[in-house]
Amino acid sequence: GIVLGNLLASTGYTTLDPGFVNTASTKSAITYIDGANGILRYRGYPIEQLAQKSTFIEVSYLLIYGELPTAAQLEDFTNRIRRHTMLHEDLKRFFDGFPRNAHPMPVLSSAVNALSAYYQDSLDPDDADQVELSTIRLLAKLPTIAAYAYKKSVGQPFLYPDNSLNLVENFLRMTFGFPAEPYELDPEIVKALDMLLILHADHEQNCSTSTVRLVGSSDANLFTSISGGINALWGPLHGGANQAVLEMLDRIVAEGGDSADFLRRVKNKEDGVKLMGFGHRVYKNYDPRAAIVKDTAHTILEKLGGGDQLLDIAMGLEEAALADDYFVERKLYPNVDFYTGLIYRAMGFPTRMFTVLFAMGRLPGWIAHWREMHEDPTTKIGRPRQIYTGYTERDYNDIERR
Ligand code: ACO
Repeated sequence: GIVLGNLLASTGYTTLDPGFVNTASTKSAITYIDGANGILRYRGYPIEQLAQKSTFIEVSYLLIYGELPTAAQLEDFTNRIRRHTMLHEDLKRFFDGFPRNAHPMPVLSSAVNALSAYYQDSLDPDDADQVELSTIRLLAKLPTIAAYAYKKSVGQPFLYPDNSLNLVENFLRMTFGFPAEPYELDPEIVKALDMLLILHADHEQNCSTSTVRLVGSSDANLFTSISGGINALWGPLHGGANQAVLEMLDRIVAEGGDSADFLRRVKNKEDGVKLMGFGHRVYKNYDPRAAIVKDTAHTILEKLGGGDQLLDIAMGLEEAALADDYFVERKLYPNVDFYTGLIYRAMGFPTRMFTVLFAMGRLPGWIAHWREMHEDPTTKIGRPRQIYTGYTERDYNDIERR
């Protein structure tokens, strides 16, 4: 049943639901999840079909505008994005202010926030044309910003976008290529990365998307709302988990490769150690995205090599966990992040870039939710209530009497 908050508020009652475990913050027509049965659909389309048949750019269109595009609509959308891939030259210098060893996530969120300073003609949340322009700018510029965050961290020169390439190809070239040198794209890697971005493109009211909505509910502009979402994504309990999984696998190898001992420590909750990439607030069954990623991990690692030992450890951990009462009772299954890091690493991305790739994938979902919220006339500023547990009234003591 649905209880409307307004109605409840008028009775004087307040609901306490830490972590929003059972409280809907909104209605939404974008993504459907059935956690008990491991089902995920974007705008009604099963994730398996989209992963197999669609492209990231098409899925972005679907999430944001609600329907799959016609060929003409897709061409127009793609061309509009192509025209906006460059960054303002002054914004490029912004990256120089960061230390070389900075994590790319704060660089990414800061640069996205800075878009509000550089592109002031598309900030009005109530102007449909401006919202459309900032949508296109974000979709076009985030891969450029992400590639520059990487280039900065390795001390290599930035490459201008090459607009004869598609979004994913361009990102790979700007990340791994060098100026004035040809960069050979591997179509299998392009396709695999495109598919991973599709899998990450939306996941209804997760922590980062709820953050984008909450920031945006104050009528803050799209750029700054998305920047808030990127920061929320960084945490290891959310998008940072893909980096944390690889670090966990590396640690198991460094400590002698004993997965059974690692699982024992997880179950005993020693030092709060968790099996990263396992568990999910909504899925109490196999995450359908993890199933797709697991298959891709095999194909890509076979082709690129290099990560086999870690893949073996990951699969061993999964097998042992799925047969263990601790994980079975708590309905803990691999989530999307359990295998993605292995693929990213095989593609050549350093561990610190993994969550940036997640952000690139999640961007169209964040935009779709921000726009859905703004188009809904019943939207109110997000303003949770609290149960006050502090002192009742007491008198101020002068400092010499404390
Ligand atoms: N390893 C070990 N135990 C776990 C794990 C895990 N990965 N996840 C949950 N548990 C245990 C908890 O300790 C708790 O046990 P208890 O009842 O004995 O106290 C029980 O399972 C329920 O877990 P909660 O933390 O209450 O579940 P919640 O829904 O709040 O958390 C979350 C979900 C944050 C994803 C959690 O499972 C987790 O921390 N996983 C590891 C991090 C991770 O992979 N995050 C990525 C999420 S998916 C995404 O953002 C793409």
